[in-house]
Amino acid sequence: MESSSKQVLSLIQPTGDIHLGNYLGAVKNWVDIQEKYSSVLGVANLHAMTMPYKAPKLREATWKMAYQLLATGINHENLFIQSLIPEHMELCWILSSVCSYGDLTRMTQFKDKSDQIKEVNGKEELISSALFFYPVLQAADILIYKADYVPVGKDQEQHLELSRSIAQRFNYQFGVEYFKMPEPLFTNTPKILSTANPHKKMSKSLGDKHFINIFEDEKRIRKQINSAVTDTGENPDGEMSPGVSNLFQILKSSGNIEGHDALLNDFNSGSLKYKDLKQEVGNSLVSFLEPIRNKYLEIQGNKRKYRDMVKQSSIEIRKRAQKTLSEVREITGILNVKY
Ligand code: TRP
Repeated sequence: MESSSKQVLSLIQPTGDIHLGNYLGAVKNWVDIQEKYSSVLGVANLHAMTMPYKAPKLREATWKMAYQLLATGINHENLFIQSLIPEHMELCWILSSVCSYGDLTRMTQFKDKSDQIKEVNGKEELISSALFFYPVLQAADILIYKADYVPVGKDQEQHLELSRSIAQRFNYQFGVEYFKMPEPLFTNTPKILSTANPHKKMSKSLGDKHFINIFEDEKRIRKQINSAVTDTGENPDGEMSPGVSNLFQILKSSGNIEGHDALLNDFNSGSLKYKDLKQEVGNSLVSFLEPIRNKYLEIQGNKRKYRDMVKQSSIEIRKRAQKTLSEVREITGILNVKY
């Protein structure tokens, strides 16, 4: 692929193991994007502080996410930890001066997540102002590297829209053409459904039976596929049920097109046995994920080395953030000094 000078940026929250839905729906896309664009990818541990959390768990989850991203093929030079680049927080504050309060109150994710906090705990739990401020930090993440494209899911569209309006207001307020308008990059990635309830998207929050951890051993992966819900009796006229269609999707995404097409023929002629489909999906998925799992095992045996690599790349990427901040301080009239 030809390399382009466009800048791509995204961050992912450290939420625990990457599951098949995250991988096929987002992470794999980033791995491919690196070939085409200059990319930076961050672990959004500061965003993870916006919901109730425990410090040791967050520390562990942050490194785990970094290791797992490396295992999937993210280049270490492109990877950073958000909190290791404190300029993100400084820019967040500066941008808050050109972000309207009214716009922030219209963010639907804030409403969803604050409802979640109330529901899960049932008791009085803090809805932090960090949760309210979350989109401003996200705008800082994006604008600090002057990103052209931001690969995000539909759920982040509103936040990206806000980042654009912040950039616009900044340029207008200070009479400069400084920040670029970041564009979302929606790629046609498959939406993988829960294996236990194929009416829902694959998600960790639904429980263990619902998602496939991509680093799991062979036996567990096969077991999970074998126990996947297929027909739930709601498709009488020969239409494919969501569970079966999900298995076909996984088969295709794991690169076994031949097997996919042959089994699809069987389905169309009414001779498909779900047992055969599951066996083929299990085999394909296991060999598709094997290199990633092996890499992860290798990383886990050399954590120090990989941790140092990510710290080093964060230090390198930070230099770009510092340059932006120094320019922004000039533009906004807050004092600048060489430390
Ligand atoms: N809010 C994003 C999510 O939860 C994560 C994120 C933080 C992000 N900063 C970002 C995504 C900047 C894209 C760009 O998925």
